[in-house]
Amino acid sequence: MAGAETTAAPGNPLRQESDKRLPRIAGPCSMVIFGVTGDLSRKKLMPAIYDLANRGLLPPGFALVGFARRDYADEDFAKVVLEAVKQHARTPFRQEVWDQLSEGIRFVQGTFEDDAAFSQLAATLKQLDHDRGTGGNHAFYLSIPPNAFPLVLQQLSRTGLAQPPDPGEGRQKPWRRVVIEKPFGHDLKSAQELNALVNRVFPEETVFRIDHYLGKETVQNLLALRFANEMFEPIWSSNFVDHVQITMAEDIGLGGRAGYYDGIGAARDVIQNHLLQLLALTTMEDPVSFQPRQLQIEKIKVLSATKLVEPLDETTARGQYTEGWQGSEKVVGLLQEEGFDPNSRTETYAAITLNVDTRRWAGVPFYLRTGKRLGRRVTEIAVMFKRAPHLPFDQTMTEELGQNALVIRVQPDEGITLRFGSKVPGSSMEVRDVNMDFSYGESFTESSPEAYERLILDMLLGEPSLFPVNEEVELSWRILDPVLEHWHADGKPEPYEAGTWGPASADEMLARTGREWRRP
Ligand code: BG6
Repeated sequence: MAGAETTAAPGNPLRQESDKRLPRIAGPCSMVIFGVTGDLSRKKLMPAIYDLANRGLLPPGFALVGFARRDYADEDFAKVVLEAVKQHARTPFRQEVWDQLSEGIRFVQGTFEDDAAFSQLAATLKQLDHDRGTGGNHAFYLSIPPNAFPLVLQQLSRTGLAQPPDPGEGRQKPWRRVVIEKPFGHDLKSAQELNALVNRVFPEETVFRIDHYLGKETVQNLLALRFANEMFEPIWSSNFVDHVQITMAEDIGLGGRAGYYDGIGAARDVIQNHLLQLLALTTMEDPVSFQPRQLQIEKIKVLSATKLVEPLDETTARGQYTEGWQGSEKVVGLLQEEGFDPNSRTETYAAITLNVDTRRWAGVPFYLRTGKRLGRRVTEIAVMFKRAPHLPFDQTMTEELGQNALVIRVQPDEGITLRFGSKVPGSSMEVRDVNMDFSYGESFTESSPEAYERLILDMLLGEPSLFPVNEEVELSWRILDPVLEHWHADGKPEPYEAGTWGPASADEMLARTGREWRRP
């Protein structure tokens, strides 16, 4: 895999080739997107590819091939890409970058059943290898519904596209990789079937599963915060931590997403992947190194030790939004959203309680919650510390003192907040909570790359650290399956009004243990 990349050496002779600060540039390759006319492709993938090109991180001969049913010529498809780039790219538009990128854009028309279309795809890639020097290195991005996977995988296998050809004596072997998007199944059993299906065609080390939360700077910074500093780690355990709240709140509704979301729900959509990955990064031990395998080993260890706290009636909550106000806008409830079954039982809010049964964490509850149409958009990990065992102040002086907290603000307003008690100026010894903030915007001048930029680049470089392996996916389903079964047997989610912080049962869930949710 190494050797497919090159490093930029911006003028400093002391910085070696192995200097990880140097930007890594992908080697020659082509990337095929299936489902190229979909939302994800338009809003995230094509803009990310342009942003990478604009940052000089794609090789000059890079090729992008769209595969879809529409009858486009290469130029028509290039116009679609251009439109998406102009609307959604993070970095400024530069004509010369676009001109170079667009020379490598191709389109293959066909359905997934269409053998001839896949043969055409193989021929197109071969031609690109010849014309643009992509060297037989091909990535296949499956931005398609999971029920289309078997067919596409079978076609890639049949046409030999999944297998790198033997390069002949002394020449470097080209690579083939597949990228898959969630949902990785809808429960443990289906995830195992899906993994088996994918691995029949692509060996595990060539499978890149996207969990875009792992591509976020703030999520990677969790590892820097924990393992590059000395002051947090000693207090990062049940000795000092009372509980942890991991919140992913969104203010958007589900209009336009019925096809994907109805029947899936909040727990499968984001707890199974994003939130359990955040939990794993928060709780794992320090890896021996940042080698991908070492990171996987530590994540797998904590995910294996993670258990639901029971009884599930009391330790979980789920809800479905009804009409209400999102700021000044009146919004409809889920059951009135276009395309949703008017009797849908799909939850749009989910909260669960977990324990991580390791020496470090035993006894500390981890509360995970997510919801659509909540008060505001915020994702954060709040580590809530125990109260001081003895307060030598008059009780009235500490009425406004809460728990110490370290809050990793994943988004928006990316940063970290430390919350602690401070004396209120004046003659008394009154103590009140104050915040100390680190904010990315203030500390760094460069803006953070989009998660998809980082992940697409890593995939093209063959760098798997930020991609969950199938064992992590299966362990996550093992954790979640009992809640899903419990909810399935248990009737309907509780209604909550759009624009609020979720159903009453979620508040009761924490109140039972004498705690309350943060209102970020
Ligand atoms: C996706 C979920 O994985 O993440 C969506 O399917 C959700 O339902 C989205 O809206 C949120 O991503 P972000 O990066 O905006 O937090």
